[in-house]
Amino acid sequence: MLYLNTEHLEHLDLPWNLCIETIRRTVHVMAAHEFSQPIKPYLLFEQDPSSRIIAMPAYVGGEIGMAGIKWIASFPGNHARQIPRAHSVTILNDSGSGKPLAMINSPLISGIRTASVSGLMIQEYEKVHPWTDKIIAGMVGFGPIGQLHLSMLTQLLGDRLGGLRIFDQNPDVLQHIPDGLNARVQCVGSWEEAYEGANLFLTCTISSSGYINRKPRERSLLLNVSLRDFTPDILDYTSAIVVDDWDEVCRANTDIEHMSTHRGLKKEDTVSIVDVVCSNGLAKFPAHEAVMFNPMGMAAFDIAIGSLFYREALSAGCGEELEE
Ligand SMILES: NC(=O)c1ccc[n+]([C@@H]2O[C@H](COP(=O)([O-])OP(=O)(O)OC[C@H]3O[C@@H](n4cnc5c(N)ncnc54)[C@H](O)[C@@H]3O)[C@@H](O)[C@H]2O)c1
Repeated sequence: MLYLNTEHLEHLDLPWNLCIETIRRTVHVMAAHEFSQPIKPYLLFEQDPSSRIIAMPAYVGGEIGMAGIKWIASFPGNHARQIPRAHSVTILNDSGSGKPLAMINSPLISGIRTASVSGLMIQEYEKVHPWTDKIIAGMVGFGPIGQLHLSMLTQLLGDRLGGLRIFDQNPDVLQHIPDGLNARVQCVGSWEEAYEGANLFLTCTISSSGYINRKPRERSLLLNVSLRDFTPDILDYTSAIVVDDWDEVCRANTDIEHMSTHRGLKKEDTVSIVDVVCSNGLAKFPAHEAVMFNPMGMAAFDIAIGSLFYREALSAGCGEELEE
């Protein structure tokens, strides 16, 4: 069994386009129903309701051909302990024999998966609504997930990224903005300054309830990665709601669950990422409306990104072989 840690993954340094392409291929495998992904169980702790560990098993058939599980812990109280909030281990199993092939001990794999899914949505959005001017992006929350999104955005959009306004409650994290980007990345003092006028907007906070209640820019893309930042008022401004998996995302106090409870949003009002990639799903929404993507995070994508890194590690001779 191959053991990979953060250092190994960073050493491989795979380009974002390759990771995004892997997510796209996985979506096609899902459209062909060649996958299995049971609903995630949440392990909760009654003394600390904000903490959880989630089990995310999946089998992805077709050209990915891998099974496995991600076991991911989120402990927001870790910030006070000066350790990262999220920790995760991904195990990959041979889908023919069940034999464990790899253990990836790193939250980085989960972060790369998350930013790659966002990258795929950007590519799909641009096919239907190409941005003709420079892209003005806004982001709230600049922890590890926000930082990986910045890396993805700069590689994917290149010079077309005209500017990025970032708001984080903790100004210390802004030291993680790479020096070469200082001319284009601006730190702002409120979510409103990051949000107003942005034609690409991302939430990467650990907010527990929605606060963004203003009209988004028309023809913008909202990537609601942290899932609990918008109030249901967003439905006053757009009907273009995209999810990765309705049954997963319409629970656990997400903005989608609140839209469903307070505003009657139903699964059939939304389109899924499979619809977007395989059936031109974005075309059904009015062109001027902002598109809002709500990804709960799919185990199938973790297994696909894990197997990409595993295969690349094997060919590069990277990682540590563990004895049975
Ligand atoms: N949808 C998905 O597939 C997916 C996958 C992975 C992570 N996530 C989510 O992404 C979020 C970010 O993850 P992370 O690992 O970077 O978390 P983190 O806790 O390490 O960092 C979060 C950052 O956001 C800042 N922040 C928190 N609340 C804020 C607010 N209201 N306004 C501005 N800044 C705020 C914090 O200061 C911190 O710098 C988490 O909510 C996590 O659950 C989603």
